Amino acid sequence: MKRDDYTAANREAWNEAAPIHARRTFDQLLADFRRPGHSCLEALETETLCKIGIAGKAVAQVCCNNGRELLSIKNLGAGRCVGFDISEDFIAQARRLAEAGGIEAEFLATDVYRIPARFDASFDLAIITIGVLGWMPDLAGFFAAVARLLKPGGLLFIHEQHPIMGMFEPGDPEPQPKLRHSYFKADPFRDETGLDYWGHETYKSKPTYWFQHKLSDIITACLGNGLALEAFTERDRDISGIFGNVTAQPILPPLSYSLVVRKA
Ligand SMILES: C[S@@+](CC[C@H](N)C(=O)[O-])C[C@H]1O[C@@H](n2cnc3c(N)ncnc32)[C@H](O)[C@@H]1O
Repeated sequence: MKRDDYTAANREAWNEAAPIHARRTFDQLLADFRRPGHSCLEALETETLCKIGIAGKAVAQVCCNNGRELLSIKNLGAGRCVGFDISEDFIAQARRLAEAGGIEAEFLATDVYRIPARFDASFDLAIITIGVLGWMPDLAGFFAAVARLLKPGGLLFIHEQHPIMGMFEPGDPEPQPKLRHSYFKADPFRDETGLDYWGHETYKSKPTYWFQHKLSDIITACLGNGLALEAFTERDRDISGIFGNVTAQPILPPLSYSLVVRKA
C-alpha cells in the first residue's frame, strides 16, 4: 500500500468513529464550550502554552479531531486558530462546538499531506497532541507539511504517547502486561476493532493502519525539516487512556513525552 492508500483507509475509519465518539461525548462537549473560557487541555499543555506565550498568536492544530483542544487554546487568548483533520465528520463536529461556544476558529477537512499552500508560513505555533504521529505513513513528509505552516521562528509543540507504549497491547489480560511488539516494528499495525478510546468498546470497524515510529525517528524527522529542538520531557503519565493495564504496574516505562521544536 502507498501513503495515500493508508490515509484514505484511516479517513474512512475516522469518519466511521465520529458518530460513535459523539454519542459518548458530544452533549457534554457542547455544554462545556457554552461556558466561556472552557479548556479541556492537560495541565502540561496549559503550562507549556503559557510558557511559550500564545496571546494573539496564530495557532494551527494538525489532526485536530473534533477541535476541542484548539477551541480551548482560543479560549486561552490565542489569535487566529485553524484546525486541520482528514475526517470531514469530525471537522463538522468541531464547527458545531465552535458555533455553540461562539468561538472564532476555522476548521478544514484535509489530509495533512495536502494542506493547501495558502496556509504556508501563516502560524506562530503548531500543535499536535495524543494519537497523531502513529497515523502517519510518512513521518518526514508529515513534519515537512507542518514546518511549511510555520512562520520563520515559529514553534511546534508535540504532546504524544511514548512510542515505547507501542510494545504493549492495550487491554492485555495478563496481570503483568507483556512486551508484545518490537519497538523497531517496521510494518504498520492493521486493526479492525474500532477507535472507541472513550468508551473502550470494540466494534467491527473499517481497517486502520497505525505506524510505530521510534523516538529517534521523530526527532530525526524534525531536525531534517529544519525544526530545531528547544525542549523535551518524558513522563510516566498515560495520556492515551488505553493502557490501564500498564499504568497499574508499580514500575512504569515512559508513557508520554513532549517536544518543542523551532523553525529556523
Ligand atoms: C487520536 S485523534 C487526535 C485526538 C485529539 N488530539 C484529541 O485529543 O481530541 C487523531 C486524528 O488524526 C486524524 N488524522 C489521521 N490521519 C490524518 C491525515 N493523514 N491528515 C489529517 N488528519 C489525520 C484523524 O482523523 C483523527 O481525528
